[in-house]
Amino acid sequence: MATFDITNFCNFECVHCCRANDRTRDLPVNAWIAILRQYLAHPVRIVFAGGEPLLCPTLLPLMQMVRTVSPKDDDAWERLLEGPATPEELFRLVGRNRLVVTTNGHLLDVHADMLERMGAVVWLSLDAATKDVFERVRRKSDHDRILRNLDRLRGRVPVHVNSVVMHDTAAEASLLIADMDARGIAFVRFTPVHQVGSARRHGIKVFHQSYVACIEDALDYFEQRQSSMLVLFNLTQTQQVFLRHHGLYEALMTRVAASRNVYVAEKSCEFNELDRSVVNPKGKYTGCCNASSLPAFAMGDMLVDGLDASRANENVAAIFRTVPRLCRTCDYLDVCGGGCRLTSYEAFGDPLVLDPTCPFLDSRLEAGTLPS
Ligand SMILES: C[S@@+](CC[C@H](N)C(=O)[O-])C[C@H]1O[C@@H](n2cnc3c(N)ncnc32)[C@H](O)[C@@H]1O
Ligand code: SF4
Ligand code: SF4
Repeated sequence: MATFDITNFCNFECVHCCRANDRTRDLPVNAWIAILRQYLAHPVRIVFAGGEPLLCPTLLPLMQMVRTVSPKDDDAWERLLEGPATPEELFRLVGRNRLVVTTNGHLLDVHADMLERMGAVVWLSLDAATKDVFERVRRKSDHDRILRNLDRLRGRVPVHVNSVVMHDTAAEASLLIADMDARGIAFVRFTPVHQVGSARRHGIKVFHQSYVACIEDALDYFEQRQSSMLVLFNLTQTQQVFLRHHGLYEALMTRVAASRNVYVAEKSCEFNELDRSVVNPKGKYTGCCNASSLPAFAMGDMLVDGLDASRANENVAAIFRTVPRLCRTCDYLDVCGGGCRLTSYEAFGDPLVLDPTCPFLDSRLEAGTLPS
């Protein structure tokens, strides 16, 4: 998915937010039209995000622009409303229909008609199941209102739930699954919190064992009941190493393979794939959506340099091709690829130190040296 962070503004202040929310002016609609035009020549899914995209008046004209090039796919839409059989089918259908809006859900009641008319799939962010935990993490939110909005969209717009797992929310994963199952949601995707932006400043993280426990809870849940719901867990490179190093990988993956509901996506760094790229609210391109608010990884200005020249920025791309020195002798380098450069940068001010989620962080740092 190519992500367009069309606004800086947000009505929430999530403790883990990786976006800046710096209150500078948003780009005018004509600038975004010029940016989007460069992408529409390529067959990528278009995801509008932010900040909170439903606060942004630019959203409607941009969705209309997508729809002049790629009309809503009625077959894909119906199938998405019924509930696809696997995550692969779901992503294929979302790709055919092309248009996604990622939202915190607060304004879905106001904008449901617009989203339905435009044929936009909604990716709703729900990081916890109970009101107390939810509102503690998604500060300034109203959990009851979001759930009411979710129920109102049922049968009208395909809603998929994205849930970030962090220390405070990990125990709620199976509660969230049960609640979404009861509400008829076809798909929930869990992602471990990325230690960038606000998450890094607040020290928000999730331990690998807690994340693995979430997957096991999900497997337990579905082993006890019939359901057509799909749950996908993204697994970072260092989490894959953790599982293998502790001898947990085979047993977990065997259970996952036998499940019709629970899936695991073993992620690798996809930096600079067009489908992973993002344009931030200032019109800057970068090759990883988690880097949207990190100026050190900006690769070019979409309005000045354009898409092709921005993607060709070697200074930034070279950082992502470089394996950190402390990783070069690691037995798990093939699995891990050296982890995530953004989190190294955020943790140590240097993208080429170590991913702070590396299971061998302490011993490697002791053996090596920290950057000056
Ligand atoms: C930045 S928000 C923008 C769209 C909208 N405001 C929302 O919350 O869905 C897009 C997604 O990124 C997720 N996100 C924010 N900070 C994150 C972090 N540090 N690690 C992982 N995901 C994060 C949010 O939970 C949300 O699902
Ligand atoms: S995660 Fe979304 S809703 Fe939360 S502060 Fe960031 S942009 Fe706003
Ligand atoms: S040392 Fe590097 S390659 Fe090995 S697990 Fe840690 S981050 Fe990954």
